[in-house]
Amino acid sequence: MSTHSGVFADPQTDPFDVAKAAAEVIANRTGTAKHDVALVLGSGWNQSADLIGETVEEIDNADVPGFGKAAVEGHSGVMRSIRIGDTDRRALVFGTRTHYYEGKGIRAVVHGVRTAAAAGCSTIVLTNGAGGLNPAWTPGTPVLIRDHLNLTAVSPLEGATFIDLTDLYTPRLRELAKTVDPDLDEGVYVQLPGPHYETPAEVQMVKTLGGDLVGMSTTLEAIAARQAGMDILGLSLMTNLAAGISDAPLSHQEVIDAGQAAAERCGTLLAAVVAKI
Ligand code: HPA
Repeated sequence: MSTHSGVFADPQTDPFDVAKAAAEVIANRTGTAKHDVALVLGSGWNQSADLIGETVEEIDNADVPGFGKAAVEGHSGVMRSIRIGDTDRRALVFGTRTHYYEGKGIRAVVHGVRTAAAAGCSTIVLTNGAGGLNPAWTPGTPVLIRDHLNLTAVSPLEGATFIDLTDLYTPRLRELAKTVDPDLDEGVYVQLPGPHYETPAEVQMVKTLGGDLVGMSTTLEAIAARQAGMDILGLSLMTNLAAGISDAPLSHQEVIDAGQAAAERCGTLLAAVVAKI
C-alpha cells in the first residue's frame, strides 16, 4: 500500500517537481517571479493576513498542483499573495495546511513548504493552535516555538538525508519577535499524530519529556523547511490548557473560539514581525 495519495501516490513522482510546478502557477497568477516570506496560518491565525498588507492575488488551492481542499473547519482553502506593508516584498500566505492525520501522506503535508521554497521564499512563519502545559498561560496567549519534539515517528525526508536540526527555529527571528512583543514566552512544541486530543496521561508524558505545547502540525513542516534552507519562525496560539492540566474537557469549538478571541493580538503581532523580517 502506498503511504501517499493524489499526485504524490505515484512513486515516480518527485515531490520537488510538483512543488516547482505549483510555484510556476503561483508566479503566473500573481505576476510575481519571487515571493520573500511564506506564512502558514493555523487555528486562530487566519485573520492575520489582512493586517500584513494588501492582498494582490487570491488563489484557490484547488488550482495549484499538489494542493487539495481544506479539511478543517476554521481554515480557508486559499493562498494569497500579499504585499508586505508598503514595500516591494511579497508574502505567500497559506490559509490552510494538510495535516498528517488526513492520511494523504507526508509529501502532501510538506508540499506547501516546498512550494514556498520553490517560489523563492527564504523565510517561513509556521503558526498553529496548540494546547498549553504551562498553567500560567491563558487561552489566547501566543507563544514562540523554541524547539520541538516530533512524536509522529515519521520524517518528510526520504532516503539517507541526514540533516542537522540544531536551532531549527531561527534564534534571530525569535529575538526579532521579542522586539515586537517583549512579553512573548518560548516553549517546546510537541507534535502528536492526532486527530484525537491527548489523554491526560499522554500530556503528563509530554511534560516529562520537556514539552510545553501540544498540537498536530508544524514539526514536519519545519523539518522540510530546514531541508529547503529556509529560516523558520514558529508561533503557537495557546487555545486551551492541554488535557488534564485543567479539569475541562477539550473541544474543537473551544479552539476556534479562542482563536477568534485572540485574532487581533495575533494579527497585530504577526504583521509587525513580518514587516521586520
Ligand atoms: N492538543 C492537540 N492539538 C491541539 C490542542 C490540544 O490540546 N489544542 C489545539 N490543538
